[in-house]
Amino acid sequence: MNTRERQPIFPSEGSIHSRNPSQEVNREKYQFASDNTAGLCPEALEALVKANAGSCAAYGEDDWTAEAAQLFRDVFECDCDVYFVFNGTAANSLALASLCQSYHSVITHEKAHVETDECGAPEFFSNGTKILLASGEGGKPELEKVEQLITRRKDIHFPKPKVISITQPTELGTLYSPRELLAVGSLARKHGLRIHMDGARFAQAVAALGVPPRAISWEAGVDVLCFGGTKSGFGFSEAVIFFNRELSREFDYRCKQAGQLASKMRYLSAPWIPLLRDGLWLRYAAQANRSAQMLSDGLRRIPGIRILYPCQANAVFADLPTPIHLSLQSRGWHYYTFIGGGGARFMCSWSTTLKDVEALLRDCAGGKKAEEEENEQNI
Ligand SMILES: Cc1ncc(COP(=O)(O)O)c(C=O)c1O
Repeated sequence: MNTRERQPIFPSEGSIHSRNPSQEVNREKYQFASDNTAGLCPEALEALVKANAGSCAAYGEDDWTAEAAQLFRDVFECDCDVYFVFNGTAANSLALASLCQSYHSVITHEKAHVETDECGAPEFFSNGTKILLASGEGGKPELEKVEQLITRRKDIHFPKPKVISITQPTELGTLYSPRELLAVGSLARKHGLRIHMDGARFAQAVAALGVPPRAISWEAGVDVLCFGGTKSGFGFSEAVIFFNRELSREFDYRCKQAGQLASKMRYLSAPWIPLLRDGLWLRYAAQANRSAQMLSDGLRRIPGIRILYPCQANAVFADLPTPIHLSLQSRGWHYYTFIGGGGARFMCSWSTTLKDVEALLRDCAGGKKAEEEENEQNI
């Protein structure tokens, strides 16, 4: 299904922008459409309120931003450069642009967000860097295919491969193990390429793998990580983390030109402080992962439903029989069906509860029962 055929966020309206605010919307049953539908976690909200007191220096010269950046250095056990931007598309695009010249190319998986969901922003912000696509199981580009893309052409007429971009967890909810990442790193090093990691859900990856953040970032050779705050419980804010600090040269100018340098930067940086300070980011991510696991286990038990990819973080992809799908839709459940290789995608967030999962499973089972009754009547 292409983007034009996407289901609207609110089923009864064509577009959120044309929605009349006075119209009642049943908000209770939207939890699984995306981890973007969740609100702010209380600590992020509280941090915004705290940061709101008084005035402070603008454009990232404030103490909140300095503290958040230092916490990232502590979490990653490394002297990295940290920047904050408003959203994931900007984080990925600007990070990639800082790794490439316009005549370079970025190799990524065919279903990567940078390819399918960023409206050409990576190419735009890098002034034309080409994205080359590799296929592979579970949202991970097959390394043999990546190597073929790197070595296939060495002539001046071909956009020179410069970056491998990977997503952790992948767009299909699967994870790279530290070992797999080391293999990506060694391939990149062998050919002098850099590594960009789209970590919109990096927190969920660390929580699921139970490894130190360094093990799936700089130790594996990642040069730049885009670490998602939005999907960790914020309203906005993504951290662009340069482990290779040479690559961050003039990144602040890049952000400014792209309209991504927040003048009141404290509102992007302060929410990270309570999350990073005492491991809260991992507790919330683990909660999202647990919900997804329960959902996956529950769906698997309903006859006719097939789980499409291993549930390793906070996404569940399932093939639903049409009657169950229609029944869920009619009961107000909302989830996407255009992401990945088809099927329904259920996304869990920091705020997904056991009750939410149980309610969805109940309605799936109800849909299954209705299907059986209809079949009996037709006999
Ligand atoms: C894998 C991935 N990367 C990046 C993003 C961030 O995108 P946005 O620009 O909507 O914040 C998302 C959001 O859905 C995502 O799923």
